[in-house]
Amino acid sequence: MEFLDLDQQMDIKKNKLNYRPIFSTLSQNPGAEIIRYGRRKEGALTLAQGQGSAPTPDFISNATHQAMLEGKTFYDSPNGVPELRQEISDYYKRIFNVDIPSNRIYVTTSGTNAMDYALTALLDPGDDVIAITPIWKNLLSAVEVAEANAIEVPLNEQDGQWSLDLDAVFDAVTDKTRAILVVSPSNPTGWTITPDEIKALLEFSRKTGVWIIADEVYNRLTLFEDHAPSFLEYAHDRELLFTVNSFSKAYAMTGWRLGWLVGPPCAEEIICDIALYNTMGAPTPLQYGGIAALRHGEDFIKEQKMDWIKNRAILEEHFKNHNRIQMAPPEATFYSFFRVDGEDKCIRLCRDLVDKVGLVLAPGIGFGKDCAGYVRLCYAVSEPRLNEALDRLERAVR
Ligand SMILES: Cc1ncc(COP(=O)(O)O)c(C=O)c1O
Repeated sequence: MEFLDLDQQMDIKKNKLNYRPIFSTLSQNPGAEIIRYGRRKEGALTLAQGQGSAPTPDFISNATHQAMLEGKTFYDSPNGVPELRQEISDYYKRIFNVDIPSNRIYVTTSGTNAMDYALTALLDPGDDVIAITPIWKNLLSAVEVAEANAIEVPLNEQDGQWSLDLDAVFDAVTDKTRAILVVSPSNPTGWTITPDEIKALLEFSRKTGVWIIADEVYNRLTLFEDHAPSFLEYAHDRELLFTVNSFSKAYAMTGWRLGWLVGPPCAEEIICDIALYNTMGAPTPLQYGGIAALRHGEDFIKEQKMDWIKNRAILEEHFKNHNRIQMAPPEATFYSFFRVDGEDKCIRLCRDLVDKVGLVLAPGIGFGKDCAGYVRLCYAVSEPRLNEALDRLERAVR
């Protein structure tokens, strides 16, 4: 083997010649860009990110601290500490009344990481993944990084109500299709899949061998129900199904980077291998915080939902008489995904909002190619902050 001299090495670095070509064609992430743009504006207020303003409750942090004091600071199983895997299994029984044995549950460093494991397990370059849109941009980009193609199938919208056209999903499937990606409840629309739609997708998967990857990160964020329907409630254990979940949203733990994946029993070894060569497992003491969250977190979820319902009412009140903003309040998640009449270029609108009134919202185009006429606002913030944001929005959009 010939070694490169230093000049040659520098040249390669400068021209990025030794990176995978996908990184020179990766699509832009308008949401991340507008957040960066907003950071440069003094006094900017951002409702562009998907998180609340509440910190993680003490009982969760204390459990992690206690685990550290007890010396639970070593490597553990790549698929998660057995106690947390069992706790997640108990949680599914308690909340969803389903039996998911712990060997089907893999603890990950976030929902994002769980999705990456599912995609890594399934995708070869050139595969297609059907993505029901609007969808959180990072999931489309994760498919791109795997050198697969995300085929967007948009939900239908009428007067702010979103619905799924199952035939459009089935029609989009070809020999290249490896998986159908469903986020329910959806970021950004709050659309929630029905049990009948879940059953139809599972039936289709059984017939065709196409996998379902269900992102259920928001399934406790149903404002008027205990939880949204889960694929796991309708699937048998050998289904071609991965479900992704996370501690981030329900327990105010976005910065912890803790989540989990559920797969069929035969996935255990594969996911263990992927984890072994990736993170080698989620941080051990944090997993004890995860146990506390699941075991004692129900009151916290209810309190948060009460705040979000109040904020949703504030939004409705603000927009009720606004003749340019049309918003149908979602029944799940803490986002409002709305249109502004006469504004069909959301990136320009979002830049203007930053420039004119210092308000950072997420441009719709990041959530799907048909979404240029929308913007997303996260209302899981304090009441004064929400009121201030809405005042700013109304000053800019009259
Ligand atoms: C649909 C969806 N899945 C996953 C995530 C990320 O979750 P985590 O913080 O666990 O990576 C988000 C974050 O906004 C999301 O909207």
